[in-house]
Amino acid sequence: MQLIQSPDQMLAEVKSLKRKGLSIGLVPTMGALHLGHKALVDQSLRDNEVTVTSVFVNPTQFNNPEDLARYPKTLEEDVKKLKDWGATIVFAPDENAIYPRKPTIRLNFGRLEEVLEGKFRPGHFNGVGIIVSKLLNLVLPDRAYFGLKDFQQFLIVKELVANFSVPAEIIGIPTQRHSSGLAISSRNQNLSDKGLEIAANIYKGLEMARELIQSKKGIRETIRLTDQFYDEVDGLEIEYFEIVSAETLLSEDIAQNGPLLLSVAGYVENIRLIDNLYLQPD
Ligand code: PAF
Repeated sequence: MQLIQSPDQMLAEVKSLKRKGLSIGLVPTMGALHLGHKALVDQSLRDNEVTVTSVFVNPTQFNNPEDLARYPKTLEEDVKKLKDWGATIVFAPDENAIYPRKPTIRLNFGRLEEVLEGKFRPGHFNGVGIIVSKLLNLVLPDRAYFGLKDFQQFLIVKELVANFSVPAEIIGIPTQRHSSGLAISSRNQNLSDKGLEIAANIYKGLEMARELIQSKKGIRETIRLTDQFYDEVDGLEIEYFEIVSAETLLSEDIAQNGPLLLSVAGYVENIRLIDNLYLQPD
């Protein structure tokens, strides 16, 4: 496995691989790698001859400086894991190399960035869009892999690629979960055992909402009962729980037989966690 830190070297390497006709998969990450990331790397290894995993904690997507300061930074362990998983190249640039100057453009994703996460994290998707554009331009992948735990991010990246005609296929990988149902996330590292137990209720609420919808309770009643369930969990502070169209992320676009997204964000022990459930009505 090769560790590359310079963006120029990354681009030179990938150009040479492409001249040899090799297909390239990109797995963008912010490090603190876990089994959720492994699922992305595994899929990329199956689909491509070369897998580049980027490890870069991107400051421009954090709207809360404390969240950025607390974000785990574990490059040495990450490199070891990636070697074990069989990744081909790790791209771990430093901040000055990626941002020699402050970006002067601002990406606006319209309605898509005004809802769910976008409402609570102003500027977040602009930061995601800028770093993902940079990574796509430096790695020139045939395919890039994103976890569906960040469903809104997945749609934003698809929008980015469609707008800029980027010739990369964007592939979403289902959320990996602990046996408690809790979505695997780098942020879980900051939770105590008790916190992990409390956090498992986030997914329990989503499952309950799914059952309510499947038993034809109706969206409004499902939201009321799920909110009530979350309210009763000590130590869990829900920021939002919403049911929206999985195509546009707007509740007004929910269609009779269209896919739904049940989406939730909340705090446990001051750590912000998100989860969602995609529901294709039968
Ligand atoms: O999902 C993430 O870890 C990040 O948002 C990403 C896509 C690596 C961009 O920094």
